[in-house]
Amino acid sequence: MKIVFSGTGLATSGALVVGVMEGGQFTASAKQIDKKTGGAVKRAIKASRFNGKAGQNLMIVAPQGTRLDRVLVVGMGKPGHMSELSLQKLGGGIYAALAYSGSKTAAVLVDAHEKSKLTLPVMAAAVAEGARLRSYRFDSYQTKGVSNASGTGNGNGKPLITTLSIGCKGAIRAKETFKARTKVADGVFMTRDLVTEPPNVLYPASLAKRCQELTKLGVKVEVLGEVQMKRLGMGALLGVGQGSIRESKLVVMQWKGLKGKAPKKGPEARAYMPLCFVGKGVTFDTGGISLKPSGGMEDMKYDMGGSGVVIGLMKALAGRKARCNAVGVVGLAENMPGANAQRPSDVVTSMSGQTIEVLNTDAEGRLVLADALHYANNRFKPKFIVDLATLTGAIIVSLGNEYAGMFADNDRLAEQLTEAGEITGEKLWRMPLGDEYDKMLKSDIADMKNISGGRGAGSITAAQFLQRFVGRTPWAHLDIAGVTWSKKDMDLSPKGATAFGVRLLDRMVADNHEVKKK
Ligand code: BES
Ligand code: ZN
Ligand code: ZN
Repeated sequence: MKIVFSGTGLATSGALVVGVMEGGQFTASAKQIDKKTGGAVKRAIKASRFNGKAGQNLMIVAPQGTRLDRVLVVGMGKPGHMSELSLQKLGGGIYAALAYSGSKTAAVLVDAHEKSKLTLPVMAAAVAEGARLRSYRFDSYQTKGVSNASGTGNGNGKPLITTLSIGCKGAIRAKETFKARTKVADGVFMTRDLVTEPPNVLYPASLAKRCQELTKLGVKVEVLGEVQMKRLGMGALLGVGQGSIRESKLVVMQWKGLKGKAPKKGPEARAYMPLCFVGKGVTFDTGGISLKPSGGMEDMKYDMGGSGVVIGLMKALAGRKARCNAVGVVGLAENMPGANAQRPSDVVTSMSGQTIEVLNTDAEGRLVLADALHYANNRFKPKFIVDLATLTGAIIVSLGNEYAGMFADNDRLAEQLTEAGEITGEKLWRMPLGDEYDKMLKSDIADMKNISGGRGAGSITAAQFLQRFVGRTPWAHLDIAGVTWSKKDMDLSPKGATAFGVRLLDRMVADNHEVKKK
């Protein structure tokens, strides 16, 4: 679908979208079309339960007095409550309502509202961004050209809509704003593609190859294989992959948005310190010898979701030429049972030198991250590390599918992340860390064990385990097990891979860690 920006004339064909505020107040364009149709909009509202609440909509098909296919009336919510996020959601809702309706073109008019703090171009760009995010589809394997597996297909075949035009005053500014936002959407789409790919297609080596596509955007990409990782002493990561015939990999992606040498000291020097993102990339998690039950095991193709977010984020940052230095590190392995698989009770030595008793081979994400985190911290001495992982089923018990769990040893970092989460709608809920939990990892024969053995606090003890590998660098861990995949359509994504984390971290970087243009 093409998205274009235009002036404020009322469309005369295709679908026309106009807004009504909660409480019934019409936008200027709603008034215009109501007049043109001899009061059809007012009558339709009266004959329905539509009252302008955000998320509501009302379709008037083939309205009298026009050559339009349809008028879509959308609820804008309470006056004064508009935010970028609410407008993105509005855009997503408009796409969902029209994509399969039969109209090939749609025109949305974004009218000023006196109480809004946002400028018209920003509002228009937000609506466009929401529509774009919602329009994601994955149909690489549908040879018949008919989809009901992904997106809002509902068995209706491909979406018919080809052009969405957004009309507003200041269309040129809106177009510019939207252009930067599409780079972030490109990152989101890459993440969704990677997470949706089946595990016979996407395994460590092929995922590493997909990372190399970022070279085109100016990202430096290095891929380490098993020989190199062995030399570095990454016994924890290698243990996870040793039951698989697929070779484990570690991929390092560097984006240098700040050119030249870093100043020796001062706040400028801090700005040059790399921001570091680390992702769990278990391309399929069978549990290993601690085998998972077969029901639902297919979900474990998305156990590389953390790495998918890191890769998509690097694409977004490079795509929009973010003025920061950032590093993405992803640890890639397939967790399989097999003749050479690691056994419950094996002891492995991590790159940090710390030894780990592997009592459950299904608690493998923390083993992969132990080496990826230590490597990233040791090599890059970053300003902070944020890791992402579909780490525990327990976080789904705690928070369901609404919030991701956040664990942090630094309050400022935690606040920046929380705030970016509220702005983007990718919400985080902070969870506790503490010595009492750390003690639960004591092993009888090694420096630690990889499970607590107790029944409670599974997500917290997993986070405590990771904390042992990040030294004193400010660090946050996002457990995204509950939010990486959605079984239902969402405002900004069709059911399936959400890419939760890409927009959040892009925003967190933009708001706090970029050097302003002089
Ligand atoms: N990949 C899983 C966690 C997971 C579960 C992600 C459900 C997404 C949805 C992880 O490797 C795992 O198996 N964790 C175990 C840990 C346990 C053995 C201590 C779990 O959560 O049961
Ligand atoms: Zn597991
Ligand atoms: Zn896992």
